[in-house]
Amino acid sequence: MVRIGSLPMRLLCLEYGADLVWSPEIVDKSIVGAERVVDEKSGIISYIKNDKDVFATLPSEKDKLIFQLGAAEPEMALAAAKTVEQDVSGIDLNCGCPKSFSILGGMGAALMADPDRLCAILDILVKNLNVPVTCKIRIFDDVEKTLELVRRIAATGITALTVHCRTRAMRPSEKAVWGRLRDIVKELPDLPIILNGDVFEYKDVQRARDRIGVTSVMTARGAAANPSIFRAEGKLSAMHTAVELTKICVRTSNIFLNTKFILLQMHPETKSDDYIRLRSSRRYKEMCEAMGLAEFYESEGAQLINDRAEPAGTGKGASKTSAVKRAKKRELEDGDSKAVHASKAPINEGPVVLEPADAVEGSGPTDAAEERPAKRIKA
Ligand SMILES: Cc1cc2nc3c(=O)[nH]c(=O)nc-3n(C[C@H](O)[C@H](O)[C@H](O)COP(=O)(O)O)c2cc1C
Repeated sequence: MVRIGSLPMRLLCLEYGADLVWSPEIVDKSIVGAERVVDEKSGIISYIKNDKDVFATLPSEKDKLIFQLGAAEPEMALAAAKTVEQDVSGIDLNCGCPKSFSILGGMGAALMADPDRLCAILDILVKNLNVPVTCKIRIFDDVEKTLELVRRIAATGITALTVHCRTRAMRPSEKAVWGRLRDIVKELPDLPIILNGDVFEYKDVQRARDRIGVTSVMTARGAAANPSIFRAEGKLSAMHTAVELTKICVRTSNIFLNTKFILLQMHPETKSDDYIRLRSSRRYKEMCEAMGLAEFYESEGAQLINDRAEPAGTGKGASKTSAVKRAKKRELEDGDSKAVHASKAPINEGPVVLEPADAVEGSGPTDAAEERPAKRIKA
């Protein structure tokens, strides 16, 4: 998920039992040419382009990490996939995003209207990558048209297909039409089909398997609201998971504004003083205080943040690590409004842009709304 599925959230979901995690959609052009930099202390692998941390990962998630691409051109898609191939377990092509940024660029759901192009991208990826290729689509209103498309997609040799059970025009608030997947499952008995849409409880996994016959399910808003959805034993409190997430964000030096955005979505007590303090926090110290983690910050966080953000070396020999540090220094504690408003570029992974009010997938230019998620993602 754009803005939500950055490294800390993925790590937490895995800790709670997720089998696989997807990166946010990252547009091919934004990662092609990025420099891969490994931080020796933390082990974090960062893909840096134009001094921005485009994508960050840790070797510990590699076996379960699918990198999701936004693409419209086969060659560019392949170049992007090749850039990150060594650090991920699969490449997914997003063909479901209905946002104008994607559609105007010929990406996302626009690809469903151009199956030749969609399949050309999958073809080149399948033929040239050493990791499995998957694809995520929506459904058409027309059943036969949907089946025709999935037959063509399956023929490219992909390893799994995720279907968001809504049409391009449907709003996230409209009920996902799980039943439409039955035909797809029947049509493609040998291809693992992953159901997506309105999965909000652990028991939905079995329900979807029993009723629809799918292999698996993908949850987006359910995990964003409470990542412990993946626990077979039942969810933990949303506040507990938000606190755990904060710690991981500090430990991985996640970009401050991204952490804040995710926490504001997750925080269960929107009327509390702590929520208000979180909303107005401008650096990790203040954020940790608002999350009841003042002691954690003093004992562990301050050092970690300083290590990552210390001034970079300069001049001849300025190392790759310095590039990361330069990027991090700007991004770790920059909750001031100037930084927010000035930032038209991705805040964190991806082409990032999100209109939380719409709660739909997508990307595009960021805007000042980053600081104040308009509507929370409801599970
Ligand atoms: C904030 C947000 C960001 C999203 N980003 C992506 C994305 O990067 N790639 C993608 O395939 N879908 C993205 N989606 C769509 C979800 O993956 C999913 O298809 C949709 O929310 C329906 O599933 P759900 O009912 O489990 O939320 C996003 C959704 C939201 C709310």
